[in-house]
This record gives sequence, structure tokens and C-alpha cells, in this order.
Amino acid sequence: MSKVQEEKISKRKLGKTAIEITPIGQGVMQFAGGTTFMKLMYPALTDKQSNNIVKTALDNGINWFDTAEAYGFGLSEEKLSRGLKAANVEDKDVILATKWLPMMRRAKSIKKTIQNRINHLNPYTIDLHQIHMPYSFSSFQKQFDAMADILNEGYIKSIGISNFSANQMTKAHDILAEKGLVLASNQVNYSLINRKIERNGILDAAKELGVTIISWSPLQSGILSGKYHKDEQLFNSLPYARKMRSKKRIKESQDLIDLLDNIAEAHVSSIAQIALNWLVNYHGETVVAIPGATKASQAESNGKAMSIDLSKNELNEIEEKSRIFL
Ligand SMILES: NC(=O)c1ccc[n+]([C@@H]2O[C@H](COP(=O)([O-])OP(=O)(O)OC[C@H]3O[C@@H](n4cnc5c(N)ncnc54)[C@H](OP(=O)(O)O)[C@@H]3O)[C@@H](O)[C@H]2O)c1
Repeated sequence: MSKVQEEKISKRKLGKTAIEITPIGQGVMQFAGGTTFMKLMYPALTDKQSNNIVKTALDNGINWFDTAEAYGFGLSEEKLSRGLKAANVEDKDVILATKWLPMMRRAKSIKKTIQNRINHLNPYTIDLHQIHMPYSFSSFQKQFDAMADILNEGYIKSIGISNFSANQMTKAHDILAEKGLVLASNQVNYSLINRKIERNGILDAAKELGVTIISWSPLQSGILSGKYHKDEQLFNSLPYARKMRSKKRIKESQDLIDLLDNIAEAHVSSIAQIALNWLVNYHGETVVAIPGATKASQAESNGKAMSIDLSKNELNEIEEKSRIFL
């Protein structure tokens, strides 16, 4: 990307940490396609394909990636590391986020599994380690004690959570604050057609605590690109796991998609780009997004979405039209 484009993308602080991230990061759950439960949603990607996604994301200004233990139990992390190596990226030039899987586990597994995360991502270090969901057998106190230990021992640089409610997030924040540490982020589903966090207290609490909201499925699995609104057959060809509950949302969002389409035309951009740009700008710097990709062209489009300047009027118009998804 050119110097001018690069300068246009201003980075933000990840919560109250010193880590600087671009408003859009690259989600790489898709790198575990074809394995475990991921095969119900995504086919396998070759290394050539995943390397291309990584390089294209970087070339289009994205400076961070989100992966997880749950995405193929190391496969997504390994493919991400291979992609970064193939692109000749140095550790200091990229920010990586991964997650610990708490299901059916106790907090002691955080310390037991951190070396696996490090090995899979090697030689890249972990900037953000997240508790994937609030379902461990152990108490929050024990989980955040373990997270604080691995942070203090230098294995990770910051601590985040995912899919935590407003109360759970506040509890996590308070436990860490007692130790003099910050809670960097809460990763939750947030998009123009799923705005629940605006009414269940998560967004307000994040703003108050200075916690970054990382939006997962910011395109609601591709629906917000408008491609299924235009082509029903394309939607019908999706695996069942991706179709569940989507049909109704596609129908309900036609007016919103039409508006996004009009605004996209005025900015010589696409529906998906306008949807992403709204998400990472409407609430100031609180919300960042990690769209996934199965093709390099999607990573390119999603990275370029950061450079669009939507007017206050356009941002408000989009907000109004999507209120039915609050
Ligand atoms: N913390 C959690 O619990 C959690 C849960 C889910 C996901 N995540 C994270 O969030 C990331 C994103 O979530 P997601 O992948 O579920 O949803 P998403 O970003 O809303 O959708 C990604 C999918 O939409 C399609 N797409 C992407 N960009 C597009 C574009 N510009 N135009 C048209 N289609 C496009 C691609 O699928 P096709 O090419 O197949 O259409 C892509 O795989 C994941 O990679 C993962 O890192 C976290």
C-alpha cells in the first residue's frame, strides 16, 4: 500500500494498553476450514490461499490478526504464522491475538496450554490472549489469576475476553484492576444486523471501562456484503450451519442493503465496505472489527474499507435504517 494510504489509516489503542491496532483486523478462523466443527461451515484452504490472504491483508493496511485454539486446535495459528513468514513480516511489525478455549476445562489449563499457543505461532509473539467464552469450570478469579501470571511471566502482552456479558466484563475488569492490570478487550458478535450489544449494556460498559469491543462476524458471515440478497441460489448453496437463522435476516435487511448500496456507489466502494466502515467509526474508537476471508480479494476489500470517509449524515442514516436490529 502507498505511504499516502497508510497515513490515512490511523491506528487505535487496544483498550488502555499501549498496543496500537488498525480499526480492522483480519480474522483467520477460516484457516481451520475442513477440520473439526469448522468443516460444517468452511472448506479447507491451501497454504497458498491462506498465505495470500495474510499478505493481502497486510498490503491493504491491516496490522493485526485474530485466531484461537478452538480454530483447528493449532491449525489456524500455524497457518497464520506460515503466512506471516511467507510475507517476510517481523514480529515487531504485526499484532497477534489468540484465545484459550475454556469449555470443560479449569483455569490451570491456561498455563498448561500457553506453550502450545506460542509454539504454533512461533516466531510471532502473542499480543492479546483472550478467554474465548465465560464457560470454564473455574471461577473468574482463578481464570484471571492464571492470565495475570502468564502476562507477568512475559508469555503474553495483554488480556482480553470474548462473549462476556456486561456484568461478566465488569467483574473481569475489576479482578484485573486489583492486580494493577487492564482488561484490553471483549470480543462479541456485533454488526449492522445484530446490534444487541447496544441494548444489553455491553457497549456502554466497554465505553465506561475503556475496553475495546472487537466485533466478530462483522459482516454476519457475509450477509452484509449483499451477495445473498442478489443471488438466492448462492445462499442456498451454503452449508446448513451457515444458513441457520440467516434467511429471515436477509429478508429483513433488504432496505438496509439498498441504502448501503446507494452510499457505496457515492464512495465508489461496496456494500460490505460501507457496513464495516460504519461499525468501526459510529462509536468513535471503541469498536474494531475482524472480518474473516476465504479469498484474498475479500481481505483486500475489507482492508480498503478503512480508508472510506463517511459523513456524519451518512453514518446517522445507516444507524436509523438498521434500528430494527437493535
Ligand atoms: N470470539 C468468537 O466467539 C468468534 C466467533 C466467530 C468468529 N470469530 C472471529 O471473527 C472472525 C470473523 O467472523 P466470521 O468469519 O464468522 O464472520 P464475517 O467476518 O462476518 O464473515 C466472513 C465471511 O464472509 C465472507 N466475506 C468476507 N469478506 C467479504 C467481502 N468483502 N465480500 C463478500 N463476502 C465476504 C467470506 O465467506 P464466503 O467467501 O464463504 O462467503 C468470509 O469467510 C473470524 O475469522 C474469527 O477470527 C470469533
